[in-house]
Amino acid sequence: MSRFITTEEVANQLHIHQNTVIRYIQQGKLPAVKVGKGYRIKESDLSAFVGEVEPVDEGARVLVVANQKGGVAKTTTAVNLAASLGAAGKRILLVDLDPQSGCAVCLRIDTSTLQRTIYDVLVHSAVDVAKVVIKTNSGFDLVPSNIDLAGAEVELKQVLAQESVLRRRLQPLIGQYDCVIIDTPPSLGILTVNALTAAKQVLIPVSCEYMALRGLKMLLDTISDVQSVTNPNLKILGILATRFDQRTLNSRDVYTYLSDFCDREGIKLFNQVVKQSVRFAEAPTSGKPLVELHPELDGAKAYQQVAEEILHG
Ligand SMILES: Nc1ncnc2c1ncn2[C@@H]1O[C@H](COP(=O)(O)OP(=O)(O)O)[C@@H](O)[C@H]1O
Ligand SMILES: [Mg+2]
Repeated sequence: MSRFITTEEVANQLHIHQNTVIRYIQQGKLPAVKVGKGYRIKESDLSAFVGEVEPVDEGARVLVVANQKGGVAKTTTAVNLAASLGAAGKRILLVDLDPQSGCAVCLRIDTSTLQRTIYDVLVHSAVDVAKVVIKTNSGFDLVPSNIDLAGAEVELKQVLAQESVLRRRLQPLIGQYDCVIIDTPPSLGILTVNALTAAKQVLIPVSCEYMALRGLKMLLDTISDVQSVTNPNLKILGILATRFDQRTLNSRDVYTYLSDFCDREGIKLFNQVVKQSVRFAEAPTSGKPLVELHPELDGAKAYQQVAEEILHG
């Protein structure tokens, strides 16, 4: 038989405020019985609620940049798209879900002194996500991470519906932005699954080198699991070839393979290819994304065009 729990327990399990739970009850979204001045919720009703409701807010587009391989330009892509879309007048929030805090590194923001980061938002239900947002100098806002986030994988295991914590916790902010971009760590663990569960679309950067292709099938399997269990609305926006070096046969071979792979799987391969350029690695020393620092360079143009396609495509 299903146990009855209090609104406070629901709030703790879902990492939301108790008032939000009461609002869900009063709106008829979450079944409950009145006991004295409070409510009691059947655990089975809560499980059904977590599984069925809370769709991603229609207001904002949530785009996750994912690939479990490191060094394929996830962070570079997330930061340059955020800056390009911000420059186009869109309200953009970049969420860093990598404990290495690559987004902050690219923007020269020191995260070691931050009182609160995305880690606190995910793990402590009392922390309001809006309080963690930083305004950057590059035309978008950032929810930063720091190394604390490395512990979240374990801590989230104790939370009910651990795959959808990020989706629930971002909800209050989503209406304030045109697009939320989520950068992910190089793994397919609970943080990446949270990002995929919170998103409408996933963009997959693939570096043009042989090893980069090996994990692609596994990533697509994870996306498919997320689609069937926690987020049926998730769509693959496309694969973006990065770090392409025209001079090498290797790069050209990988691109051809990638193109065939996308045809076979029915996945869009972006026409734009981000070329290998040392300027990308240099940009973080200035604290600016390449699209802002050198918008005239090929690499920056590729990201501007992808952003354009995201806006109008
Ligand atoms: N097109 C590119 N050409 C050359 N270097 C690049 C390019 N894109 C990214 N990089 C560099 O490659 C490294 C890894 O990129 P990063 O975006 O951090 O990858 P990830 O987030 O997937 O681990 C960084 O030093 C970055 O500056
Ligand atoms: Mg990264």
